[in-house]
Amino acid sequence: MKRIAILTAGGDTPALNATIEGAVERANQSRVEVYGIIKGFSGLLNPEVPHVHLNPLSHRIPELDGTKGGSLLGASRDYVDGDDIETIARVADRLKRLKVDGLICVGGDGTLNGMQPLSDHLPAVLCPKTIDNDLGLNYPDEPNEWFREPNEGPRGYRYRKRPSREFDLDEMVNYATPGYATAVYVSSLSVQRIRTTAESHRRIAIIEVMGRDCGMIALGTAYGQPDVILVPESPVDPDPLVERVLSILDVQKHAVICVSEGIVDQDGDILGSKIASKDPAGNVQYTGAAEAVKRLLVERIGDDFFSRQRRNENADAAIFVRKIGHTQRGGRPIRFDRFYASQLGGKAVELLLEGCHNCVSTLQYRDGGMVLDSMDANKLRDRWGIIHARPLPVAFYDPHRFKPSAQGVQYLRSIFANALGAEDVESIRSLFDTGNLIHPYDSVNTHVNKRIRRLPPEV
Ligand code: F6P
Repeated sequence: MKRIAILTAGGDTPALNATIEGAVERANQSRVEVYGIIKGFSGLLNPEVPHVHLNPLSHRIPELDGTKGGSLLGASRDYVDGDDIETIARVADRLKRLKVDGLICVGGDGTLNGMQPLSDHLPAVLCPKTIDNDLGLNYPDEPNEWFREPNEGPRGYRYRKRPSREFDLDEMVNYATPGYATAVYVSSLSVQRIRTTAESHRRIAIIEVMGRDCGMIALGTAYGQPDVILVPESPVDPDPLVERVLSILDVQKHAVICVSEGIVDQDGDILGSKIASKDPAGNVQYTGAAEAVKRLLVERIGDDFFSRQRRNENADAAIFVRKIGHTQRGGRPIRFDRFYASQLGGKAVELLLEGCHNCVSTLQYRDGGMVLDSMDANKLRDRWGIIHARPLPVAFYDPHRFKPSAQGVQYLRSIFANALGAEDVESIRSLFDTGNLIHPYDSVNTHVNKRIRRLPPEV
C-alpha cells in the first residue's frame, strides 16, 4: 500500500483533526502517502476530486493540527447511495485515478452506509466519530434485539428494541466515540454557568443538549450537577417530574433541568418536534424538547405558585430555556478526545495495511483501561442491515432520581477521570491574548485552499 485517502463526513466534532493527525503519523512510519479528500463524500462526487496531500515527503503539513476543532478537510453531509451502482463505479474509478489503494472514512452510521459499497472496490476502514456517542453497541448481540412493525414512516417500518439485557462495561463495542468527551465538557460547563444565574433569580433553567435519540451527552452533563436529567431512553412521566421539581424548589428556590433533545412522551413520541432536514443521510433535526418541558411545567405548576411563593411575575417568566447548541461540537478537543481520536486514526491505517475491508477501528474498555480494536462493520447492523443509534443503556440511568445510576457513574468515571489535561487548562489563557484584538481570524481554509489539487477532466 503506497497511498491512501482520508475524508471526514457527517456533522463535525472537535476531534476530527486529531484523528487525521494520528492517521498521518502512522502512515509516515510506513512511508504511505495520505491524500485528504475535501468536504467528505461531496469531494468524491465531484469529478475533479479536490484533494490535499497531507504528508509530502512523510512530513505532515502545518495546517494539520490535532488541537484544533473542525476538520481541515471540511466535512459535508453528502453520502454515496449504496444502491446507486453507477455512481459507486464512478467514485471507485476516481479513486483509482488518484492511485489510492485504501480509504479511511471518519464518520458515523451514515458514513458507514456510504463507505460499505466502496469497500467492494478498495480496502476501506471507518474511523468512528460523533459527539452523540451512539456509534457502537452496548454488547455484541444487541443488534438482534431490534424488531420492526409496518408504519407510514420514511422507511415503511417503525423499528423498536426489546429491553436490554444486563452487561459488563467490558462488553461495550466501541466504548466512546471521539467528540463525546469534549461535548460533555462543554455542556457541563454550560450547566455550571447557567446554574448561578438561575440560583440568584430563583428561576428554573431548562438546558437542552444534543444527542439525537441517545441520552449519552445528557448523562455526562451530570458533571455540571443539574438537578434533573431527562434522556430519550426514559419516557417523560409528568407527575414524578413535577413532584421532583417542586421538591427541589422547596429546598433551594431554583432548579436546573438538563434535557436531551430527543426526549419522548409515554407513547414513545418525540416531545419537541422533529423536522425533516435536507441532510441526504435522512437525519431529522430535533427542535423544541426544552420548550416542551417548559410548557409542561408552566401548565402543571401554574402562575400562582411563582407569583405568590417565588415572587416571580408568572410561570412563563420564572422558567427559561437555553439550547447549548453547536458549541458542543466546536472548538479545541480535550485530552481524552485528542489522544484516542489520534490512536483510532493510527489504528485505521494499520487495518488498511493489514488489508481489512469494510471494518471499523474501535476503542474498547478492558481491565480498567482503554485498548484499540477493530470489528467487521456488518456487526453493527440489525438483520435488515440497518445501523441503529446505540441507546443509552437503561442501567446507566436512575429514572427515580433523574440522575446517572451506579453503573452510569462507573461508565462516566472510566472516561472522564483523566479526560482533561494540564494543557487544556493552560489553553484557556490564550483567549485574552492581545493579538486576538488586533489580528483577524486566521482560517485554516485559506491555507488549505492553496494546496488543493484536482484530477484532470474525465475522458
Ligand atoms: O449528530 C451530531 C449532532 O450534533 C446531533 O447531536 C444534532 O442533533 C445534530 O448533529 C445537529 O445537526 P446540524 O449541525 O445539522 O444542525
